[in-house]
Amino acid sequence: MAWIVKPSGTMGIERRDEPYLTQSMRDRLTREVLPRYETTHAALLPALHMIQHEHGWVPAQAMLEVASFLKLEPAEVYDTASFYEEYWLKPRGKYLVSICRSIACEFAGHERVTQAVKDRLGIDVGETTDDGLFTLIELECLGSCGTAPAALVNESLHENATPEGLVRTIDEICRAEAAGSSAGAPHH
Ligand code: FES
Repeated sequence: MAWIVKPSGTMGIERRDEPYLTQSMRDRLTREVLPRYETTHAALLPALHMIQHEHGWVPAQAMLEVASFLKLEPAEVYDTASFYEEYWLKPRGKYLVSICRSIACEFAGHERVTQAVKDRLGIDVGETTDDGLFTLIELECLGSCGTAPAALVNESLHENATPEGLVRTIDEICRAEAAGSSAGAPHH
């Protein structure tokens, strides 16, 4: 194991003028979420969910805005956001291809499916294509073990997934994107 030193002290945060934590999110948090809890800390997960739902990921600027709104330390917000895999701390592709790697899918050959997607997109697990269209991840049981291997393309479940089937789906999305539509695939 090696220590990797990060230049945290001099690291710049990309900023934009428009806030990520919009006024309507602040209103909803104040009206619907904060009254339910004794501490503002308890509203942290809902606040991060709102950000991700709206923007598809949780930028550093958004974490600072959430910290200031909930009167928390920025480090507390970052600790929480980076602890949960569900929060994206970097932009992800318009289409998220998620392949199950848990035991039933492993026995059913999920690796061949992952490999085919990697080859088709030219990226590794955890990466996003340069055009920002696809991100590939592996995750744990999708609750579809009876029809393993299982995969998701955004929220659409692919049961008995095959390398050819997923590559075909990706081809269809690419064709639809090139033609200017989104192939009916669900949004983030
Ligand atoms: S192990 Fe893959 S869906 Fe359950």
